[in-house]
Amino acid sequence: MKKIFIFNAFFMLLLVKSFSQVHQIPDILKSSSGEQIISVKQWEQSRRPELQALIEHEMYGKVPGNLKISSVKILDEDQNAMNGKAIRKQVQLTFKGNQKELSFEMLMYLPKGKKSYPTFLGYNFSGNHTIDADTNIHIAKEWNGKAKERGVESANWPVESIIASGCGVATIYYWDIAPDRNDFSIGIYPLLYTLGQVQPASDEWGSLAAWAWGLSRALDYLKSDKQVDGKKVVVIGHSRLGKAALWAGANDQRFAGVISSCSGCCGASISYGKEGETITKVNARFPRWTCGNFKKYTDHEDQLPFDQHMVLAMVAPRPLYVASASEDAWADPKNEFKSAFLATEVYKLYGLKGIDKNIFPALNSPLGSTVSYHIREGKHDILAYDWNQYIAFAKNYVK
Ligand code: GCU
Repeated sequence: MKKIFIFNAFFMLLLVKSFSQVHQIPDILKSSSGEQIISVKQWEQSRRPELQALIEHEMYGKVPGNLKISSVKILDEDQNAMNGKAIRKQVQLTFKGNQKELSFEMLMYLPKGKKSYPTFLGYNFSGNHTIDADTNIHIAKEWNGKAKERGVESANWPVESIIASGCGVATIYYWDIAPDRNDFSIGIYPLLYTLGQVQPASDEWGSLAAWAWGLSRALDYLKSDKQVDGKKVVVIGHSRLGKAALWAGANDQRFAGVISSCSGCCGASISYGKEGETITKVNARFPRWTCGNFKKYTDHEDQLPFDQHMVLAMVAPRPLYVASASEDAWADPKNEFKSAFLATEVYKLYGLKGIDKNIFPALNSPLGSTVSYHIREGKHDILAYDWNQYIAFAKNYVK
């Protein structure tokens, strides 16, 4: 009798636990007032804006003002780069605020003789000169005492294949917008401070939002460049830069598509019940990435009123690609996949297909359509295999 009771109690506990887990990931299609979202109109006019405001306020922080490009300088333009196959451009964008100035350089390779093509826009980790051995690329400012050599990250930027496929690519060194350290006295932040302010308020931007802002300003420029098809700019990023790309693409609907490579926690992956890196860990190691309000979720992931599938859903109906790597338990591939699967709910409202089955795919077997996913065999990285999928995806879905 006692045994049966213990067994039953244990069973009930399991049931309650799994029940509460299912119910802790907030429902994308149910508004805060309990309304069921069944149409594109409801999504666009009420649920999407509601989620945008919530996630911005609680997690990434708002951009505290309006800063437009104050000047553009074309520092370099070569119509015969890459043995005549590409146009190379290096453009400097300058911003002004509070008697301060911030400039960053964007490096672009565009396919020659093409008119309408997708251009991938994404940050690089270590300076524009590291993405290719081309000696004409300007050496980036050294920010963190770890100067890198030319071309050392070329495996992550297969520029030749991108150009050969007929696509373009544009990149910026992310430290130039906001250095990746817990210091808000440098980078873009001081240009928007109010009098006496020395760090963002608790609902104002952390670095992910600052980097996302930079991607949107880069897009402002790209849209003005006659050699680029500004309607086909696909924002892309790996890891922390994938988190920034997602938030940029979620907010700025001018991006024609969004690609996340191994973006993990605070990126594509569902936070609730996440394996590997958790919000608690991100908040401890990288408090600068998100706004002050987000710190209340340290050790309280179960109290999140939203989750990352909602960020992905904000990209709808535009093409979205989420990618993972098999040895990247830190980012948690299963929860990255689940997030893309759950975001598909919103694509369905538009009559679009995404990931229709909650069945985790085999390695190196991309699946989906307007929302696509793959898990590559290997480490946390963005490699030729990944790019080949992104290129095919962009050519297929970015219209
Ligand atoms: C760390 C961090 C991740 C991040 C990664 C990266 O591992 O914990 O959240 O994605 O760095 O940017 O490479």
